[in-house]
Amino acid sequence: MKEIKKLEDLQTLVSLCKRRGFVFQSSEIYGGLNSCWDYGPLGSQLKLNVKLKWWKSMTKRLDVVGLDASILMHPTVWKASGHIDEFTDPLVDCKSCKARFREDKAPQNDKGERLCPQCASSELTETRNFNLMFKTFMGPVEDKGGEVFLRPETAQGIFVNFENVQGSMRKKIPFGIAQIGKSFRNEITPGNFIFRTREFEQMEMQFFVSPGTDEQWFEKWRELRWQFHLSLGLNAENLKWHKHEGNELAHYAKQAFDVIYKFPFGWEELEGVHNRGDYDLKQHQKFSSKKLEYFDEAQKEKYVPYVVETAVGADRLILAVLCDAYREEVTQTEKGEDVRVVMGFHPDLAPNQVAVLPLSKKEPLLELSQNILAGLPDLLNVDFDVTGSIGKRYRRQDEIGTPICLTVDFESLEDKAVTLRHRDTMEQKRVPISELSQAIANMLLTFN
Ligand code: GAP
Repeated sequence: MKEIKKLEDLQTLVSLCKRRGFVFQSSEIYGGLNSCWDYGPLGSQLKLNVKLKWWKSMTKRLDVVGLDASILMHPTVWKASGHIDEFTDPLVDCKSCKARFREDKAPQNDKGERLCPQCASSELTETRNFNLMFKTFMGPVEDKGGEVFLRPETAQGIFVNFENVQGSMRKKIPFGIAQIGKSFRNEITPGNFIFRTREFEQMEMQFFVSPGTDEQWFEKWRELRWQFHLSLGLNAENLKWHKHEGNELAHYAKQAFDVIYKFPFGWEELEGVHNRGDYDLKQHQKFSSKKLEYFDEAQKEKYVPYVVETAVGADRLILAVLCDAYREEVTQTEKGEDVRVVMGFHPDLAPNQVAVLPLSKKEPLLELSQNILAGLPDLLNVDFDVTGSIGKRYRRQDEIGTPICLTVDFESLEDKAVTLRHRDTMEQKRVPISELSQAIANMLLTFN
């Protein structure tokens, strides 16, 4: 009998990520830098696969096109967008232990007073609004004239390019612009591994619609985004919707729903779907004095489009994918408990789809294995591992989520066949080398 255990604490995942080359602490040899993380060889491939899946899901639609805008933008963009005045979090200090934290996230006592999360004191300073934008200077002189901001969201690069994209691509409304890129927020309390960091990557799409059709499109995009998360293999039981009410709504939002995910530290936001109305284009129109109207030929009318936005953090989505994929299969054997750790990634997301494992590193097996590797389709990412016992190599591949292990043994020299091992069922199948591409493609389809 096999018992399946899912991920219970984040630290188990953090250790696996370091041990297996997914995510390392940034600047680790200098003691690390708070909330900054580096993606290792497997993590960077996983990230690329997640981003590619998102990019394709957006741009394969004929009504969505891509963009890659710069991180530094004209400072007036942030005045117009409301980020200079409104993009703040309430900050307080504890008078007792001097801890600094977000007032709105701090625990409360029976009287409704906020408490310091570290020492539980209710002796706190007055709340101040802390702007989350990182500031830097352009050019050699550090004065007010050279002040620029690192973008806190990728969305504004899309709004200010609305006319460029619409005109150059001859797009008719409704249409969307999709973008992936880094954003920066000087979060007061970053944490939970790659969940909340100060430097992160966003995948955002702004869909421009005619006024009055926004609520319909909002519902449509909610449904599409839900399906996207399922298409990554995320367990539907770990996903649900959270509706923003009243003062939860961001300064630009008319309607907002979050897809929330059940992380080991609780249900938290994964993606936001927002109806931004005509807030952003109207603001940019006002501050730039440029008309950002669209002429609807069919209706013979001019209007400022409304925007439905979908916004998800690549890093946060990767954390959800990692948490969801983790499982321990515990079997009782005569020698005691045997634990197989498996990262059950969807094959499109797994850093490698196949691992070629020669049973021996000696010739002529090595040459045959290298020839097999060279003959595999370019579309596959393939690992090649000759070190250690075959059992240990299988376990390593399970732990990094490789769907198929391809074992080349001494018989392969005679029968011109190899063994394919399925990550989830551990079933093995003998396949002629000449039929490998098709057999691998078929086996990959059996993973969900
Ligand atoms: N343009 C709208 C916007 O940026 P948001 O809800 O502030 O909306 C969208 O951010 C998504 O970006 C979030 O749902 C989350 O996935 C990700 N995100 C935001 N802040 C983050 C942070 N500090 N670290 C990691 N991801 C973050």
